Amino acid sequence: MVILVVLHMLRVIFYGAYKFPREMTWITGALLLLIVVGFGFTGYLLPWDQKAYWATTVGTRIAGTAPLIGDFILRVMRGGQELSEVTLARFFGVHVWALPTLLFSLIGIHLYLIIRLGISAPPKKGEKQGDSHE
Ligand code: HEM
Repeated sequence: MVILVVLHMLRVIFYGAYKFPREMTWITGALLLLIVVGFGFTGYLLPWDQKAYWATTVGTRIAGTAPLIGDFILRVMRGGQELSEVTLARFFGVHVWALPTLLFSLIGIHLYLIIRLGISAPPKKGEKQGDSHE
């Protein structure tokens, strides 16, 4: 999924399809990328084995190094100071409820914008920046 989204993003970059008037499509896309990465991170803990436990210990500790609010973020993610079954419940909830809700809502907005603005035309050779595609 991450690979597919990155390939899609590269297609958009090479076509210059992120430019006016498609900035909002790009921004919703960037949020979609974060959500897809979030699926990977929260899903990795769910097998609840040694690899999952220690990977998430490291991941949440990295999040905990953020300046000022780091400790707060760590405690919210872990549901306490240590990684426990509370963390597992949280990650499960985020993985199967929160992220899918966000994903489908944002895909809806993303597709609405594409229908509204129309798909961009492939850039042509010798075309100057800002030239109309219409
Ligand atoms: C779950 C992730 C995503 C889904 C399901 C999705 C889906 C789509 C679809 C179906 C289209 C129209 C067809 C096409 O251009 O291929 C599209 C267009 C577009 N996407 Fe995404 N996208 C996702 C992620 C992203 C990301 C990460 C970005 C960039 C940060 C992005 C930026 C755009 C832009 C700018 C367009 C308009 C392209 C044009 O008009 O030619 N999308 N997206």
